[in-house]
Formats: sequence, structure tokens, C-alpha cells
Amino acid sequence: MAPVSLQSSAPGKVILFGEHAVVYGRPAIAVPVTQIRATAIVEPAPPGSGLTLVAPDIGKNVPLATAPQEEPLAVAARLTLDHLSAPEPDATLTVSSTIPIASGLGSGAAVSTALIRALATSLGHTLEPAEVSALAFKVEKIHHGTPSGIDNTVVAYEQPVYFVRGHPVERLTVGEHFTLLIGDTGIRSPTKKIVGLVRQACNRNPARYDALFDQMGDLADEARQAIEIGDIETLGLLMDENHTLLIELHVSSPRLDELVETARLTGALGAKLSGAGRGGNMIALVEDDFAEEVAESLREAGAVRVICTTITTTE
Ligand code: MEV
Repeated sequence: MAPVSLQSSAPGKVILFGEHAVVYGRPAIAVPVTQIRATAIVEPAPPGSGLTLVAPDIGKNVPLATAPQEEPLAVAARLTLDHLSAPEPDATLTVSSTIPIASGLGSGAAVSTALIRALATSLGHTLEPAEVSALAFKVEKIHHGTPSGIDNTVVAYEQPVYFVRGHPVERLTVGEHFTLLIGDTGIRSPTKKIVGLVRQACNRNPARYDALFDQMGDLADEARQAIEIGDIETLGLLMDENHTLLIELHVSSPRLDELVETARLTGALGAKLSGAGRGGNMIALVEDDFAEEVAESLREAGAVRVICTTITTTE
């Protein structure tokens, strides 16, 4: 079937609770961030031209036929075509993204998800979120080595999720909307590297790290309850506790701690690093009336970008 022109997009994400612990089988909670998105556009190309993958942001323009085996865009495209048992179409597939890379916001998962959806839909197939997520997970393994699967899941479902590795995803009901500020340290921090460092430390001292992961998992369970009943104050306290555990895991950094402290001192209900850590982003839970004030303080304290997002249950 010849592809038709179309566009698909996928959101960024933040981890609310349980980063790192989720790699070791503990529960975690993540939410989509819809203000930042990856977009994929498929346009028909002349017969015989095959599929060309274009990513203007990173100066990439490569025919699928000659793309390196491990090139993530090519892997996503090949996996999609295999999944659909579809031949390579004559088309140009252009991806772009407003999601900062290597900063814990799920840019890799979002690009894969947008690409997989756009390619499948252009060939007349509508994939379920679970199918898209499973394909994107295979690409995530190239980006991250041993990913838990939470990034591709929350991005493909585009809903708040409670996630345990290897279990069916559970969509979270949000009892009362809440507002998050996402503050960027401006320091890039590749997830694969930090996950690897945690793994080494864990191998050296499994009892201590298992105990930390257990505590993080317990916090995620408590946070789930707080989200479901709309207890925002408790949610903030749990975020603070999670940040303390992440410091003990040695994945925080002076910049992250400064931004977390600034948010708390200027009225946030709670704050923590989000994602792999050592750089990337922190998140702060704020009452709507204080959002701008806390955001301004974060900027003054050196955050290179502050995104404000409201979390609700989405249909
Ligand atoms: C990445 O967004 C969060 C980590 O827990 C890694 C993973 O879950 O694959 C650090």
C-alpha cells in the first residue's frame, strides 16, 4: 500500500516516583508532559525511492536501506515494517522534537513513538498503545541498555501510569488535578550512563541498594493512593522523601539539590529530581496560585527552562 501524508506526535514525560528502583522491579509513577512533543511526518516519495529518514534537528538524512544497523530511527522504522509485515514504502519520514535530549524527559521514547505511529498510520494501520510501546521499548534498549520500559509506556499511553516492570500497565486516576514545575539544570545526563553507575554500586552493596529500592517502591505505592484521593499535600511530602532517597543513591547533584531547595523555600509543596539524575530536570509540586512565583525563583536560581504542566486524568 502506498503511504499517505500524515503527521503523528508524542509527548515528553517526567517520572514522579520510583526512578532507578523501577529498573529493579519496584513500582514507579510517571506522567506525560504534553507541552513538549516529538513529531513525525510521512510524505509520499516517487516510486522506487524507498524510505528516507530525515531529522533536521540533528542534520540526519539517511535512506533506510543504508542506515546503520543500530541507528535508532532506522531500528524503529524496521521494527514497525516487520510488525506490520509491510514492505518498505516510498516515502520521506521527517522527525523533529521540542523535548530536550538527555535530560530525563523521554525524548528518545517520544521520537520512537511518533515515528512508529506515523509510519503505521500512513500504511493504513492503527496501532494500540501497547503495540507502540512494545516496539518503542526495543528502540529504548539501544538508547538505554537496560531500560525498565516506563518511558515508552507513559509516552505511548499519554496518560499518568503506575508501572511495574513486566506487569501490565495501570492507568492512574487523578482525584484532584495538580500542577508541576519542571526545572532544567541545563546539564545533560545520559540515562544509560547513570543507570550503569547505579548498577555497579548496587553490585558492590546489594543489601543496601535493595533496601533503598524497597523504600522507593513503598513511596510510589503511597503516592499512588495520594494521587487517587487527591491528597496533594501528602504527595509533596512523599516527593521530598523520594529526593532524599535519590541523594542516598548518589544520583543527585549540587545543581539539582539547589533547585529542589529553591522550590521548597519559595512555596512548593514538595520537590525532587526526576529521571536518571546527576543533571537533567527536577520537578516541584506547586499550588496554582504560587506557580509563577516558584517558577521565577527557579529561573533566578539558574534553571535554564521551567515548564509548567497540569496533571489530570485524560480519557
Ligand atoms: C528513566 O526515565 C528512568 C530510570 O528509572 C531508567 C529506567 O526506568 O529505564 C532512571
